[in-house]
Amino acid sequence: MRTPTSLLLLLFVVLLVSVQRDDAAAAAAANEEYQPGPEKVTKLHFYLHDTLSGKDPGAVLVARGAAAPLARPGDPTPFSSVYATDDVLTEGPQRASRVVGSAQGLYVSSGRKGLSLVLGMDFELTDHGNGSSFVVFSRNPVLAGDGRELAVVGGRGKFRMARGFALLRTQYLDTGNGDAIVEYNVTLFHH
Ligand SMILES: *[C@@H]1O[C@H](CO)[C@@H](O)[C@H](O)[C@H]1NC(C)=O
Ligand SMILES: *[C@@H]1O[C@H](CO)[C@@H](O)[C@H](O)[C@H]1NC(C)=O
Repeated sequence: MRTPTSLLLLLFVVLLVSVQRDDAAAAAAANEEYQPGPEKVTKLHFYLHDTLSGKDPGAVLVARGAAAPLARPGDPTPFSSVYATDDVLTEGPQRASRVVGSAQGLYVSSGRKGLSLVLGMDFELTDHGNGSSFVVFSRNPVLAGDGRELAVVGGRGKFRMARGFALLRTQYLDTGNGDAIVEYNVTLFHH
């Protein structure tokens, strides 16, 4: 007949073994490491519609500093304005053109002296399977002209581990209300 002490000891040993088994299972799962395949290059071309006006805007003001200058013609997004976005991406420059994805995230008006934005946006391209996107976190000097460059810092799905760059050209900009159509040429290196 076992004493209560030896029963407790047995219980302790059983618990210890099961904890060790859990640790072993977790270690095994962690060992199934993601192995990146060979690097691929994907080039994308589309148009982003950043619509601030109208009843169904793709970009909505969520905050603006109390000390910010007032919105005025030529400067529709004064310094410190933060916008939430769900911008439509289309194949061609027209809004009626085929929709190829959406760019969700935010941008902040970051230029004290001129229109400049910092974008943190996830571009999902439905042609590449839902859940495939690349991520931009970069400065966009809107008035710097064509060929300005954004940094691609990551990706999901087919674009996992993406790095790369996007070259932008303003197709259309209404400096009164901020509506814009921007052409994107994106080069992605991913696995
Ligand atoms: C992505 O999702 C949309 C809406 O759910 C669907 O219509 C479309 O076929 C999906 N695309 C792919 C490539 O799976
Ligand atoms: C994108 O690439 C096309 C084809 O090479 C070119 O005509 C267009 O000017 C480029 N646009 C940008 C913004 O780089």
